Amino acid sequence: MTYLAILGFGTVGSGVAKVLTENAAEVAAGAGEEVRLKYIVDIRNIPDSPFAPLMVKDFAVVEQDPEVGVVVETIGGCGVALAFTRRALAAGKHVVTSNKQLVAEHGVELLALAKEHGVNYFFEASVGGGIPLLRPLFNDLSANRILSMKGILNGTTNYILTAMLQSGKELDEALKEAQSLGYAELNPDSDLDGTDAVRKTCILADLAWGRELKPELVPVEGIRGVALQDIRSAAASGGAIKLLCRLIRGEDGLTYAWVAPHYVPASSMLCHVDQAFNALIITGNAVGDTMFYGTGAGSVPTASAVAGDVVDAVRHKSSPRGIGWSDAPLPLGDPDTLPSRWYIRSEGKWHFTEPLTADRIPACEARYRVLD
Ligand SMILES: NC(=O)c1ccc[n+]([C@@H]2O[C@H](COP(=O)([O-])OP(=O)(O)OC[C@H]3O[C@@H](n4cnc5c(N)ncnc54)[C@H](OP(=O)(O)O)[C@@H]3O)[C@@H](O)[C@H]2O)c1
Repeated sequence: MTYLAILGFGTVGSGVAKVLTENAAEVAAGAGEEVRLKYIVDIRNIPDSPFAPLMVKDFAVVEQDPEVGVVVETIGGCGVALAFTRRALAAGKHVVTSNKQLVAEHGVELLALAKEHGVNYFFEASVGGGIPLLRPLFNDLSANRILSMKGILNGTTNYILTAMLQSGKELDEALKEAQSLGYAELNPDSDLDGTDAVRKTCILADLAWGRELKPELVPVEGIRGVALQDIRSAAASGGAIKLLCRLIRGEDGLTYAWVAPHYVPASSMLCHVDQAFNALIITGNAVGDTMFYGTGAGSVPTASAVAGDVVDAVRHKSSPRGIGWSDAPLPLGDPDTLPSRWYIRSEGKWHFTEPLTADRIPACEARYRVLD
């Protein structure tokens, strides 16, 4: 039997409690033993929840209980979540998280700490929510040289871009709709500005190429500048405007990483990924293209990935998997130097350019890199 604690009983944390409880038989079969939830740590009270008897306010209770083998961190951010993760790992507990900011900014340190203490630090849910992405990348595709990754990894902005086209709304109105339906947070900055997508891009790069990509080094353009007329014109020409995460391993050995709205032609499967869905295409030199598609956020889908990590942590409790990457910086190239076709509006008319580097784009009112 392995005992578990959840830190942060919000959207994801409450989903984890639900999945571990309702799917207890499947979890036990996968883990090879029963996995029982012992504590929930949150600053809020949850008197009406069936999990109320498990609530504690003080993380030290979890930290000092030798029975707790696995800690799930679903608080978010790099404040108390970082402090609790350090303490849990140092206390010899496996840690599982959905917190992309923490992994993108402190992954090197936390993975080294996990190694030092002979435990696992897993974060499948941090990229693509419920979609299995990271384990296929570091496990099943590990015999490949990863050549590129491209995808839609922010469901909120994908929902907004889809809603703009379908209901003819400008971004502000579509955002309000997304907020009222729970697809966008009250403070949507990290989604709209692309910061959330950058963090996921960094985690993918870290795992694929074994060196650290710091979020502040990734050029980013969010969707605030995308107008309804851009989306309508793209649709009329058979494509779609999508916020893409891009990673390309150049023949020069440099990695080109960026996040920006793109024109995606209908010939790409990414053009047809709508609403809040996520998708990622990973291209390896042996396998070619592989595409992963599914629900990139939400309580229970995200909890599915967290609970899968819990199962794997229990399965590997005596022989940690040793995932990690070096703190040496990933050598980067400038995406603006990569030639590409562009979809541009000049004097009110849209057209496609020949392949050009960014500095050669003619004067225009709007421009989107074309996904080739
Ligand atoms: N939501 C998703 O669909 C999704 C998907 C993938 C990844 N993630 C990531 O998963 C993490 C959690 O997201 P979420 O949406 O579940 O957030 P959330 O709903 O805000 O849940 C966080 C919970 O932690 C609690 N908390 C805050 N400070 C605490 C403290 N000092 N000690 C214990 N608990 C504390 C919060 O309480 P208060 O509400 O009182 O502050 C809240 O209940 C984030 O890193 C997020 O980026 C989320």
